[in-house]
Amino acid sequence: VQLKSISVNGNTYPVSDKTNVTEPILNLTDRAVYLKPSHPIGILRSVIERKLNEPHEAFEIYNEFKPAVTVHENFDSLGFPDDHPGRSKSDTYYLNDSHLLRTHTSAHELECFKNIKGFVPGYEGKTDKPGFLISADVYRRDEIDRTHYPVFHQMEGGRVWKREPNGGHLAKIKEDVERLEKALADDPVKLLVEDNVTLEGNPKQDYMTLEEVDLCSRHLKRSLELVVLEVFKRKLASMGNVKGEELKVRWIQAYFPWTAPSWEIEVFWQNDWLELCGSGLVREEVLLNAGYESNQTIGWAFGLGLDRIAMLLFEIPDIRLFWTLDDRFHSQFKEGTINKFKPYSKYPGTIRDVAFWLPTDGTLNIIHENDLMEIVRNVAGDLVECVKLIDSFTNPKTGRKSMCYRINYQSMDRNLTNEEVNQLQDKVRDTLVKLFGVELR
Ligand code: PHE
Repeated sequence: VQLKSISVNGNTYPVSDKTNVTEPILNLTDRAVYLKPSHPIGILRSVIERKLNEPHEAFEIYNEFKPAVTVHENFDSLGFPDDHPGRSKSDTYYLNDSHLLRTHTSAHELECFKNIKGFVPGYEGKTDKPGFLISADVYRRDEIDRTHYPVFHQMEGGRVWKREPNGGHLAKIKEDVERLEKALADDPVKLLVEDNVTLEGNPKQDYMTLEEVDLCSRHLKRSLELVVLEVFKRKLASMGNVKGEELKVRWIQAYFPWTAPSWEIEVFWQNDWLELCGSGLVREEVLLNAGYESNQTIGWAFGLGLDRIAMLLFEIPDIRLFWTLDDRFHSQFKEGTINKFKPYSKYPGTIRDVAFWLPTDGTLNIIHENDLMEIVRNVAGDLVECVKLIDSFTNPKTGRKSMCYRINYQSMDRNLTNEEVNQLQDKVRDTLVKLFGVELR
């Protein structure tokens, strides 16, 4: 049934050909689990907010932005090219041609930059704080497994300085950088930082001097390193390692349309590099789009993924648990405390394979994997743990392509009956035929 309009957080949007958001996804737009003080995501958010805002509150906190935003806010204003893959319907939930569910918290950067007093001529502004933190739920069409969910959480940070004619801003940034460096040095837990990224292939913007780039990026990097240290040393402590423990992080080169240069920070945890956060020095175009005057301002921004970190800290084995209503989950956590989650019970999963020939009439011979995932998600919701392509081949004689996907049905909270699983599987199969014209095998 195609609806004529959809409603998100009390606003109504007429549908269009672009609409691909589904009811189960819309139902998550009101949950705001990151605002719950004793939800793992909420606990992590508060720890980071508190750390960045000490000793003086430099960051205004925005935690109430709603997920429906314009294509302009999410992509255009940040300099995404028209053909950027992030814009495609296979990756993004569109409400219609002009609105979508934000794919990242960067969608609100412009508004927050604008709100800082003294930067937009003729506009009074809303806050004296030269920085901001935005936490919110973000939406992406993606695969289905233990670490992917169509909704996850990010915290965006931004910080600006006004240039002063005598270089006064440089002295201010420097003083703050030295404070951050001292805090890192004074901590009993040492952070080992690897940073071999140069400006080669990751160039600075012309309007910034080398000294500004150096100071601004040190401020950004030391701020994020302090956050990582704060979060992971709590984890180490909860594991019984109080000191003498070293934590390794590294900076790697990155690219984002609205920052230059850009970096990502990764932490070494249990023998793996875990990607934590994209960041960079804000492109002046973005500041100009926010109404700033040219050549007056320098600044940085970052976007931190909260779910993976929370899964690691609280030892949560499946990302779906963040969305459960089961009190056996929620009763385990309390404000301000990072503790290990105790699985209340692991209900066995049931594996079902679906194999099919792709249609040969030429109209459609590729199914985007995210579209297949969406079908399973629509049918089974949180009762599906994982969907994996396990086989695909092309018959050399006929040229027909066959694919086989393995679906693991498993509930977080209860046992599923065989009958129930069969019904879900039948529905998945029927939908594949109906929407994609595949021939089931
Ligand atoms: N929005 C980016 C992402 O989702 C992260 C980012 C934020 C990068 C701010 C640079 C600056 O990956």
